Amino acid sequence: MKTVIEPFRIKMVEPIRFTTRTEREQVLHAAGLNLFLIRAEDVIIDLLTDSGTGAMSAEAWAALMRGDESYAGARSWYRFEAAVKQIFGFPQVIPTHQGRAAERLFANVLIQPGMVVPNNTHFDTTRANIEAVGGKAIDLPCLEANNLALEAPFKGDMDVAALEHLIAEVGADKIPAIMLTVTNNSGGGQPVSMANIRTVSKLAHFYGIPLYIDACRFAENAYLIQQREAGYQNMPVREIVQEMFSYADGCLMSAKKDAFANIGGFLCTRDDRLAEELRRLLILTEGFPTYGGLAGRDLDAIAVGLHEVLDEDYLHYRIRSTQYVADQLQERGIPVVRPSGGHAVYIDARRFLPYIPPLQYPGQALAVELYLEAGVRGVEVGTVMFGRNAHTGKEKPAKWDLFRLAIPRRIYTQSHMDYVVEAIAQVWQRGEQIRGLKIVSEPPYLRHFSARFEWI
Ligand code: F0G
Repeated sequence: MKTVIEPFRIKMVEPIRFTTRTEREQVLHAAGLNLFLIRAEDVIIDLLTDSGTGAMSAEAWAALMRGDESYAGARSWYRFEAAVKQIFGFPQVIPTHQGRAAERLFANVLIQPGMVVPNNTHFDTTRANIEAVGGKAIDLPCLEANNLALEAPFKGDMDVAALEHLIAEVGADKIPAIMLTVTNNSGGGQPVSMANIRTVSKLAHFYGIPLYIDACRFAENAYLIQQREAGYQNMPVREIVQEMFSYADGCLMSAKKDAFANIGGFLCTRDDRLAEELRRLLILTEGFPTYGGLAGRDLDAIAVGLHEVLDEDYLHYRIRSTQYVADQLQERGIPVVRPSGGHAVYIDARRFLPYIPPLQYPGQALAVELYLEAGVRGVEVGTVMFGRNAHTGKEKPAKWDLFRLAIPRRIYTQSHMDYVVEAIAQVWQRGEQIRGLKIVSEPPYLRHFSARFEWI
């Protein structure tokens, strides 16, 4: 059969409230044209993020009921720890309430002011946590990543030559860790190849630098390795995951992505001394090391989700359904980042709205317009998110202005996606009438969450 179907049936539903364009105009106006500031009930299709928004399975819901809420040494903790160890293979597991909590612990323990942390591309919270302790977050994406339209299998790879150059320039002692984000979210959701993980690991270890993987979308990345990298076609995704993490010294994970959980995360390491330091800080701000800010039931849901996400029928459907949206848009001539990655479809907003300059935020203008058109919420990944330098306070255009439609796991069907495609095509047709934006108020960092805008 050629038709790829959802490998699940739907047992429970949530109603969607429809809104009119007039209602949406009022909602947007009150929110200062920032889609983070509107109510979810005013959204028809919510593609703001794939984080914490997935549908849990009947098994995960059943596991919630088995949650052990004991403060220390809960059964849930041991089930969680066993799942993480089995899948990722690290001896030390530290639970956190979400990915950025793991990032904060990591940054506080590992990074001294002036130190440098390279990554293929830092996610915004990773960058902010590194910068918050005085470190420098450096992006070293591979050359292919610069061409958004180029069809290349592993545009999430790190530029190894640039990494070598950076190490020579700043010195290995100034680099407390090298990171790889799989898949590369800010770089368009592109996967990192096994070959790249292996090479970066070799180089890191040659210089005595540990390699940490930002593992948020590890299963999607592993599946794309199976599909696209020579030599992996016949290897089960579970084994690909084991090989990926065998090259690393640890990982940081947001369980809100590839563990189907609504909340949760963890940090893993092979370094026992580092783990002790991390746990000391964990107790101070997150919780005792056997729950780390999570309820026992959350730990249990994550333990189930981590195994479930490795189901290859699920991954096949997942990647294919994202590709479906990207292909539908491409067929209509809409500039999307190619090839489509795992969790999201990214539109190149500078090409979609070519007469809106980057400092008038074409990605945000597109986000606002699509919401007005059809109540669809996506997110700008561009100059609003990355344009302001936290140290100097200066603003400059980000490398790209993308508009991301993140697809929550197992939430929407194909007809929901057809609706989204139709809405984008309508906006595309009257592109020239869309105006740029200016910022009227913004906080000192992570401004995209709370800045307010006006049309120019
Ligand atoms: N790393 C990556 C690559 C991420 O995509 C995220 C979150 C985090 C770390 C932080 O994890 O949210 O659990 O604290 N990304 C979400 C997104 C928010 O929409 O892409 P968190």
